[in-house]
Amino acid sequence: MVTAVYPGTFDPVTNGHVDIAMRSSRLFDKVIVGVYDSPPKTLVFSTEERVELFHRAIAHIPNVEVRPYAGLTVDFAKEMGATVVVRGLRMGSDFDYEFNMALMNKKLSPDVELVCLMTRLEYQFVSSSMLKEATRLGGDVRGLVPDHVLSMLGDRLGATKAASISGSISEGGAS
Ligand code: COA
Repeated sequence: MVTAVYPGTFDPVTNGHVDIAMRSSRLFDKVIVGVYDSPPKTLVFSTEERVELFHRAIAHIPNVEVRPYAGLTVDFAKEMGATVVVRGLRMGSDFDYEFNMALMNKKLSPDVELVCLMTRLEYQFVSSSMLKEATRLGGDVRGLVPDHVLSMLGDRLGATKAASISGSISEGGAS
C-alpha cells in the first residue's frame, strides 16, 4: 500500500490543485492533502477554511483526505505513513523551486520520494495569488476554482473590495 501526501498552502484550492489530487488518487492507494498552516505569505483563508474548501472539492474521491499540518513536510509524510510527496509543476520556474525543495527534503528524509505531475495545460497560468487579485479587482475567475470556492472568494474579497471602493468614493465625494 503506497500513501502519498500532497502538501501546499491552498489559499484557496484551485481546479489545478484538484486535478493534481485527482490524478494522484489514481496512482497511489491513499492520498493525504496536507494544508500547511503557516506559510510565509499573507493568507486570506484560515487553516480550517482552507482544509474545508479542499475537503469539499475532493469529497467524491474515496481515497483522498485533507488534513492540516505544521512543521516539516517530510515529518508530516512520515507521521501519515507516506513514502511519496506529490507536487504539481506548472512551468520552468516551478521546476527550479521544486528541485531545491526536493534536495532539502531528501537530505532531511532520504526515504521519502518526490513525484511531480505536470499541471494540465488549462491551469498552467493559475496561482492562488492571481485568482485572489483578479477577484479583488472584479475579474471573473469562474472555471478556475470549484463553485464553492468561487462564492467564498466573492464573499471574502469581491464584496469587501466593492464596499471599500464605494466607501472611499462616497468619503471622497463628501469632502
Ligand atoms: N494549479 C494551480 N496552482 C498551483 C498549482 C496547480 N497545480 N501548483 C501550484 N500552484 C500555485 C499555488 O496555488 C501557489 O500560489 P500562491 O503562491 O499564489 O499561493 C503557488 O503555485 C506556489 O505553490 P506551491 O509551490 O505549491 O507553494 P505552496 O505555498 O502552496 O506550498 C509548501 C509550499 C507548503 C509545500 C512548502 O513551503 C513546505 O513544504 N513547507 C513546510 C516546511 C518545509 O518542509 N519546508 C521545506 C524544507 S525546509
